[in-house]
Amino acid sequence: TEKFDYLIVGAGLFGAVFAHEAALKGKRVKVIEKRDHIAGNIYTKEVDGIQVHQYGAHIFHTSDREIWDYVNQFAEFNRYTNSPVANYHGEMYNLPFNMNTFNKLWGVRTPQEAAAKIQEQRDAAKLSGQPRNLEEQAITLIGTDIYQKLIKGYTEKQWGQKATDLPAFIIRRLPVRYTYDNNYFNDTYQGIPIGGYTQIVERMLDHPNIDVETNVDFFANKDTYLANYPKVVFTGMIDQFFDYQLGELAYRSLRFETETLPVGNYQGNAVINYTDAETPYTRIIEHKHFEFGKGDADKTVITKEYPADWKRGDEPYYPVNNQENNNLYKQYAALAAQQKQIIFGGRLGQYRYYDMHQVIHAALVAVKAEFDPTK
Ligand code: FDA
Repeated sequence: TEKFDYLIVGAGLFGAVFAHEAALKGKRVKVIEKRDHIAGNIYTKEVDGIQVHQYGAHIFHTSDREIWDYVNQFAEFNRYTNSPVANYHGEMYNLPFNMNTFNKLWGVRTPQEAAAKIQEQRDAAKLSGQPRNLEEQAITLIGTDIYQKLIKGYTEKQWGQKATDLPAFIIRRLPVRYTYDNNYFNDTYQGIPIGGYTQIVERMLDHPNIDVETNVDFFANKDTYLANYPKVVFTGMIDQFFDYQLGELAYRSLRFETETLPVGNYQGNAVINYTDAETPYTRIIEHKHFEFGKGDADKTVITKEYPADWKRGDEPYYPVNNQENNNLYKQYAALAAQQKQIIFGGRLGQYRYYDMHQVIHAALVAVKAEFDPTK
């Protein structure tokens, strides 16, 4: 049988970057993926000429020139700029909170008028001392109107808990912009890969030294894998790797409902957040707007994103990085450090809410530690 130097568990961005770099160094790499496709959560699929983001809106953004150049080897990016809109009971507001938002809310026209209005609302709330929960924290930062219309419902849906039961630290700061700029990110580089994200991972894995198998779960044959591969890169859940022996880490899950509609343009924007408490989904994505209306003129594909509790067997989309879970993760990380055969990486392996640019960076750091440890 063929001999491999590395087994990579998970064909997401972390696993793919590591596999690609190892192959370039002459190593033979086996990649196994439990889903029926590669690319993990950045997976996109063409439907009616539209690239559909199968696991939620993905916008690439970074200020790191090296990461931007790195990812541009694998795809050409368009100039998409993330500028989401909020729908609160039919009232539409620009995000992030900026002069357009303040003008629509209060009729104010200048940064001075907006700042005065926010201060007036903070004062009226008469909160003093340390905020005791997320609600108090948000009102302290931004006042009641924005909290009630744009934060409360959305956050409660996202976490499945009342804002008064959520800890204050979840909102350390709220980006407030006293300009009429709707660009959500401050990063230097931003865009969507023309032709979708899947090609990026496809190209990373397209090397004679790399062998990829989908529909294969590491845990179906854990002991055999560990016996047969000198080195393993594991990008699944770290608590599952250790059989939950120290307890379960918490995650949030999501449910996506995708449909094709017989209209050319459904909502006029790629992302609309539903910030009221009653609408059960948090946002609707209209995929064609990521590519400036590409695809069929009479059709569009939309996805509703529903937040969901997580239990074993569900997709763990978000780590819940509160104190308790971070402490538990640290104990798992200590166990992981003793396993010299295994590199734990990525969003689930490191239990960190990594964005794409951060996961590429983390993978390149792991590559360097593995192949070039003295530099
Ligand atoms: P990822 O989860 O992608 O890959 C891990 C892979 O391992 C999966 O394919 C999984 O099936 C597989 N696996 C797990 N256990 C296994 C097992 N036992 N055996 C075999 N395979 C196994 N980022 C950003 O920069 N901009 C954005 O706009 C967004 N938006 C966004 C929206 C939503 C809804 C989510 C959930 C996430 C984002 N992200 C994002 C984050 C982005 O998705 C993330 O940074 C990368 O996908 C992380 O790549 P990983 O390789 O770490 O994990």
